[in-house]
Amino acid sequence: MAVSAPSPETTAALLRDRRTIHLFTDETPPDSLVRDAIEVARWAPNHRLTEPWRFYLLGDTTTTAIVELNTQLVRARRGARAAKAKQARWRSIPGWLLVTSTRSPDDVRDQENYAATACAVQNLQLYLWTHGVGVKWTTGRVTRDPTFWDLVQVDPEVERLVGLLWYGYPAAVPTTKRAPVECILTTRP
Ligand SMILES: Cc1cc2nc3c(=O)[nH]c(=O)nc-3n(C[C@H](O)[C@H](O)[C@H](O)COP(=O)(O)O)c2cc1C
Repeated sequence: MAVSAPSPETTAALLRDRRTIHLFTDETPPDSLVRDAIEVARWAPNHRLTEPWRFYLLGDTTTTAIVELNTQLVRARRGARAAKAKQARWRSIPGWLLVTSTRSPDDVRDQENYAATACAVQNLQLYLWTHGVGVKWTTGRVTRDPTFWDLVQVDPEVERLVGLLWYGYPAAVPTTKRAPVECILTTRP
């Protein structure tokens, strides 16, 4: 049966051209666009249809609390000046979306849930990219601080972090590279 899909060239260009965005303009993308992206993201493959992804659209109160936690962590490790610079930068991030996957007592299922949610994140990033919105997927130190979970009101025994996504309209699009396919593809008889 024929499947409906964009052309191979269009698809390849989307996959190749999406970049992690570190610098955003001041404009915040509308929540409705993020909701549309989540609607698309959840069509990711997921074993046994566990649909393990959970999305938390974070508002000002929560993001301010995360920024302040991160500022404290940076101050403790690198001093007041570095903390102030980081605080200013983090305050300027336009959109914040937390993505978790539901835990399973079964290790295999837990790993599959994480993998499925990572696929969903990529779906989400690609969809947003087609709307001119860039994402930075972060798993930085702040997300590993135990108090982080209190700030986002998620029980870490029930869900695990997949990523804290920053999103917005790119102020700059970086370049990056990949190793040649020959370095990663091995053919077995
Ligand atoms: C699971 C995961 C965690 C990541 N965490 C971070 C992070 O904490 N900080 C960061 O700058 N980038 C992070 N990234 C983004 C990568 O640095 C980025 O994907 C990589 O540099 C390749 O760039 P590209 O996405 O533009 O191809 C993460 C990506 C993934 C998949």
